[in-house]
Amino acid sequence: MTDRGWEEYAGWWIDRFAADSDGDYRDQIIPLAVAELAGAATVVDVGAGEGQLGRALVAAHGCRVIGVDPTRQLVAAAVARGGLAVQAAADALPLAEASADATLVSLVLEHVDDLDAAVAEIARITRPGGRFALFLNHPIIQTPGSGLIDDYTIEPPERYWRLGPYLVEHAGVEQVERGVFLRYVHRPLSRYVNALADHGFVVERMIEPPPSPAFAGPDGEAATYPRLMYLRSRRMSDAGSVRDR
Ligand SMILES: C[S@@+](CC[C@H](N)C(=O)[O-])C[C@H]1O[C@@H](n2cnc3c(N)ncnc32)[C@H](O)[C@@H]1O
Repeated sequence: MTDRGWEEYAGWWIDRFAADSDGDYRDQIIPLAVAELAGAATVVDVGAGEGQLGRALVAAHGCRVIGVDPTRQLVAAAVARGGLAVQAAADALPLAEASADATLVSLVLEHVDDLDAAVAEIARITRPGGRFALFLNHPIIQTPGSGLIDDYTIEPPERYWRLGPYLVEHAGVEQVERGVFLRYVHRPLSRYVNALADHGFVVERMIEPPPSPAFAGPDGEAATYPRLMYLRSRRMSDAGSVRDR
């Protein structure tokens, strides 16, 4: 499987997830992002895609949202939909130090190879005392090769969620839908939490929303499996780059 990257699948993303048609976005991600970012005057949305979260924030709070994304077609779509967006990757944000009251990163760091470089940049642009709102595909359940399996090799047949290796960092291309191949980096949850700590963020809240019916499977097999996780952290006032250990 080859990774043709986000430019290749920009249209797929827009049609499939950014058209108010995806249950997780509509019911979980958008309402949580809106609630968590209330009161922030300037929000930087890193890996903003075509800007659906930014539009929801502007509609709800009237704040200023700057979207940053390396995929040219998604930036163009964000601008065409009325957003403010620039083309850049998470590890080289074209924004001034402490210029964001809050940073938002939704389902992006799983696609970023250099986690520390990205978190260092997010810390640099988040003002001291500002929030960092992070959504991730839950690394505990979304391990490499994971998925709902119908096992007909046993009698009676069983349906279960297959887990791949959890504790090992792994970068590879996954078929996320028929014909759609994207690069994912799996990391244990501790790797994310420790990257935040190393770059001066203090975790304030972790939320594991119950999954949407679509993820739970036809008979609700995965209804108690956390598909999504959210971390709210705050940048310490005296944060340096990487703290002494
Ligand atoms: C799953 S989409 C999420 C889009 C948006 N955050 C949302 O929730 O609607 C992943 C996004 O990450 C972006 N991306 C991929 N590599 C990136 C990188 N190195 N830095 C920043 N964004 C990246 C892609 O272009 C894509 O827009």
